[in-house]
Amino acid sequence: MTATAGTDRVVASMTLAEKAALCAGRDFWSLYGVPRLGVPALLVADGPHGLRKELSTGQVQLGQSVPATCFPTAAAMASTWDPDLIEQVGRALGAEARAEGVSVLLGPGVNIKRTPLCGRNFEYFSEDPLLAGRLGAAWIRGVQSQGVGASLKHFAANNQEHRRFSVDALVDERALREVYLAAFEGAITGGAPWTVMCAYNRLNGTYAAEHEWLLTRVLREQWGFDGIVVSDWGAVNERVEGLAAGLDLEMPGFGGHHDQLVVDAVQAGALPADVLDRTAARFLTLVERTAQAREDGHTYDRDAHHALAGRVAAEGAVLLKNDGGLLPLAPGARIAVIGAFAKQPRFQGAGSSHINPHRLDDAYTRLSALAEATYAPGYRRDSDEIDEALLAEAVAVARAADTVLVYAGLTDSYETEGLDRTHLRLPASHDALIAAVAAANPRTVVVLHNGAPVELPWHGDVPAIVEAYLGGQAGGSAVADVLFGLAEPGGRLAETFPHRWADNPVHALPNGPRQAEYRESVHVGYRYYDTAGADVLFPFGHGLSYTSFDHTGLSATGTGPVEVTVTVTNTGERAGSEVVQVYVHHPAAAGARPDQELKGFAKVRLAPGESRAVTVVLDRRAFAWYDVTTASWAVTGGRYEIRVGASSRDIRATVAVDVTGDAPPAPAYPVPAPGQQWDRDGFAAVYGRPLPDNTADAPGTFTLNTPLHDMRSSPVTRLLQATARRQARGFVKDPKSPMALLIGAMLDEMPLRMLSMMSRGRISRPVQEGLLDLANGRWARGLRALARRR
Ligand code: BGC
Repeated sequence: MTATAGTDRVVASMTLAEKAALCAGRDFWSLYGVPRLGVPALLVADGPHGLRKELSTGQVQLGQSVPATCFPTAAAMASTWDPDLIEQVGRALGAEARAEGVSVLLGPGVNIKRTPLCGRNFEYFSEDPLLAGRLGAAWIRGVQSQGVGASLKHFAANNQEHRRFSVDALVDERALREVYLAAFEGAITGGAPWTVMCAYNRLNGTYAAEHEWLLTRVLREQWGFDGIVVSDWGAVNERVEGLAAGLDLEMPGFGGHHDQLVVDAVQAGALPADVLDRTAARFLTLVERTAQAREDGHTYDRDAHHALAGRVAAEGAVLLKNDGGLLPLAPGARIAVIGAFAKQPRFQGAGSSHINPHRLDDAYTRLSALAEATYAPGYRRDSDEIDEALLAEAVAVARAADTVLVYAGLTDSYETEGLDRTHLRLPASHDALIAAVAAANPRTVVVLHNGAPVELPWHGDVPAIVEAYLGGQAGGSAVADVLFGLAEPGGRLAETFPHRWADNPVHALPNGPRQAEYRESVHVGYRYYDTAGADVLFPFGHGLSYTSFDHTGLSATGTGPVEVTVTVTNTGERAGSEVVQVYVHHPAAAGARPDQELKGFAKVRLAPGESRAVTVVLDRRAFAWYDVTTASWAVTGGRYEIRVGASSRDIRATVAVDVTGDAPPAPAYPVPAPGQQWDRDGFAAVYGRPLPDNTADAPGTFTLNTPLHDMRSSPVTRLLQATARRQARGFVKDPKSPMALLIGAMLDEMPLRMLSMMSRGRISRPVQEGLLDLANGRWARGLRALARRR
């Protein structure tokens, strides 16, 4: 939408101060309006799998929000591979936001799952940009159909939580374009979000919040984004530079404590006045677009949303293994249900996406309605330690049953915003339980609740495994229905499960202290595993069904775009769905391009015996690589192989196509043999400039962006941290709770500049600078600065 004459008139009648006020929040969750001109103040709220509208707008109160439907997390949504279904989720989310007067919902997150250790992977869709972008676009279309804006996040290269406030993601432009940005591009071109949230981290040396290339050249000029760029909460480093670079809205804001900087910059000629005019116009557009969200009288049907959440949980449940067709179980069977998660479900992750569900199903209640069920907890829900007595009880219960269902996975403290995992193992108590139960009863089914891949050392000892992810408030009953065949396991993995963390391409690459070096370039996830020929536990796209499918008559027509058609037949005796995955194999030398890349997919539901022709169109971009020398997408002409399959490692049919194009072959970037690493110099060549030193700031050179942890040599920093920790203990009692861990990480990783957010604006920039002087040993200057501010 372009600015209308009306918009221009309203902007022209605003004062400089009013425009500056529009560029920052009023508090944590509300924005400023211009009451004099009838421009309303909007409300925003998290998040990606449910509405987290906090009870107060003046602070962050994780865990205290209005009751809402907790849908399956993005990891589970992604395994549905079903954009239509995710669009329905978006509509439901939008309806809930609208009923609460929320104008912008902060989601979806489409960051690529570069490493399975990232603590927020449950909030993200996939390791593949096409899948992440398409699902993100569907989510956005759904939410915005209700007159509520989406906020696509976290733009960009926010692929780890470790040091997220300061880390510099060093990514070569080709990897950015082909992988990391591609997910955002797909969500923007397919979903047209009304806002985009820029990330905390730096990208190639510059904070995302002041990255002109990212926020203006790419996002607006190349992709046509016409909405508001909002900062992640506390992500603004230099406010004025941010605005000049393309940031519109700083969040949170505290009663205009930064506005004077903006006004001064305009008056001094350091910031062109039309930057503020542009933001004000964009803001008016957002107000107009979200008008419906602020009308009274919207309601939603909680039961219908609960049912939808359950449907998505079943559609996203991935049947990883099912030897001998053990599943589905027969109704009325004698089962043992083992594992505390069966009664106290693990259904979401921790952090800003944490929902207060209006209802919560557990698996055990539903299972006992379907079968003759006994139960043993097997482990303590809040502990990793093996409890021998619980283990012995579980083994006895397992022995007495025909079939055992073990509910296991990651406990709350493993998966939270703000922290990455340090390994991929399950809690020792869960591994020990599964091993003991499997030894006691060969008919053992493991149901996993976790938000990202885990190592499964016992996978060969159990006949069936279901990856149920963090399935939202209806996941317990929905997955029980899947186990008994009342629903089908519709999920396919949107990420690779490696055998072990050490197999992952980035496991030995530096992720700090100053920078994360993306030396693997485009070889992310299955792009690496398939190119290296590395063995994996469960490949990208994998997921079994209770029925079977044939793929026949594959054909491809055209020289780019190419129309790929295949006939899928349900050859089994049950209804079921198949995800037809279309990969393009490039003729390039190994390493110049990933061996194969997902370029299209379609989910089809078929009755027994039913056949359907499925057509997927591959446009020219499906064959292109990004040429940094010409700054454009390049198509190398030649013969490509189109592979259609049920996973990246289960290709059912192939066909060759001749694609026209005149670009040279992509430059080689060999993939190291398993066990070897990409070296720094090789990456520097691809990166195109020397890599900075990857060292922490030394005492005397600390800046407002140095993480407090790196400044711990200074007594001033230690005192600050101790004070903040004491305050935190006042409201988070359990030191092992995810919230305590999140706050602990935050207090280590945040830089001094974030004190303004933490103190709700009270610790101003000059005070921070005084503290910085003290930390750097410039005592006299620091004390003078602090004294002036008392
Ligand atoms: C998170 C965002 C979230 C925001 C508001 C930040 O810490 O990174 O994803 O939307 O807080 O809660």
